[in-house]
Amino acid sequence: MSSFYLFILFILFLSSSECFGNPPTYGAGTVQELGGLKAYVRGPSDSKLAVLLISDIYGYEVPKFRKIADKVAAAGFLAVVPDFFYGDPANSSDPHFNTEPWLKNHTTDKGYEDAKPVIAALRSKGVSAIGAAGFCWGGKVAVKLAGSVDIQAAVLLHPGLVNEDDINKVKVPIAILAAELDQALPAEQLTDFEEILSAKAEFDSLVKIYPGVAHGFTVRYNDEDKFAVKSAKEAHKDMCFGNPPTYGAGTVQELGGLKAYVRGPSNSKLAVLLISDIYGYEVPKFRKIANKVAAAGFFAVVPDISSFENVKPGINPLFLSQNIAQKLRNTNKWQRKRTKSNV
Ligand SMILES: *[C@@H]1O[C@H](CO)[C@@H](O)[C@H](O)[C@H]1NC(C)=O
Ligand SMILES: *[C@@H]1O[C@H](CO)[C@@H](O)[C@H](O)[C@H]1NC(C)=O
Repeated sequence: MSSFYLFILFILFLSSSECFGNPPTYGAGTVQELGGLKAYVRGPSDSKLAVLLISDIYGYEVPKFRKIADKVAAAGFLAVVPDFFYGDPANSSDPHFNTEPWLKNHTTDKGYEDAKPVIAALRSKGVSAIGAAGFCWGGKVAVKLAGSVDIQAAVLLHPGLVNEDDINKVKVPIAILAAELDQALPAEQLTDFEEILSAKAEFDSLVKIYPGVAHGFTVRYNDEDKFAVKSAKEAHKDMCFGNPPTYGAGTVQELGGLKAYVRGPSNSKLAVLLISDIYGYEVPKFRKIANKVAAAGFFAVVPDISSFENVKPGINPLFLSQNIAQKLRNTNKWQRKRTKSNV
């Protein structure tokens, strides 16, 4: 179950280009009080899955960071970006800004302590699974949370300050997305982390190094720099499908009166109905798409609309897919659907 959450929480991360080309929107985000901190919040307020985005030292108001939260929300999660710095983020363009005293005043230990009431507040709202995505400074907070049972999964993006002791304590599925050119996290240290994590068979882990990029590359990239944008996107894509679990081979079953190719975790509350083009549900490349959707943690369903039409000529395929969607809902497990192609 926990590895399922790693991928449902994070593989979806920024996956709009893969699965969610036309994501739903959930209004603008709002800044609310949550567990004693101000927090930017966006996403379906009834979601049982939340992602806690823990910022770098530049804080929770940085536009590119908020965009990540917005994408997480568009993928169906409740995205929560707390202000761990109490209105006092780092500002390197301020000539009076001094990193050392700032870091002393905004310790990751305090961040970890402050995150707990935020998590408790989310649980009290009915959230059942929480992932933490920590960027730079936030990576240290996220890895500490990953050493507890407060969260179900963690992703560390070019984390700072993380040591072997932190990694040894990790108890939940974790991914480390690291920059090649990062003094805060040199290659030898990453190798050590990878060894520690791969020895832990009880949960999934992933360590990946992105070549030619520096600390901060997933958030502080230059839009004009094609390579930087590409690397950031690659990291985002890897968050989607970096290390997907497999769910056995797909099978063809009867569902809602149609034959359907089905693959994915059968206990998933999230299903994606893939409706083929005119070439039908057996096209290998189409099935591969379904397999990817399944690997991302969804129950993927590919109905064979054409064969049904042969049995009952004149039946509208749209009507049939509505039938299937209805059938999925009737099982009372399928509460959420996404993508416009779902009827
Ligand atoms: C950072 O400091 C500069 C120079 O003092 C100031 O102009 C800018 O508004 C500050 N940025 C933030 C986000 O506070
Ligand atoms: C330390 O942080 C608090 C908020 O956590 C802030 O009010 C205070 O001004 C900071 N002090 C210094 C010296 O930066």
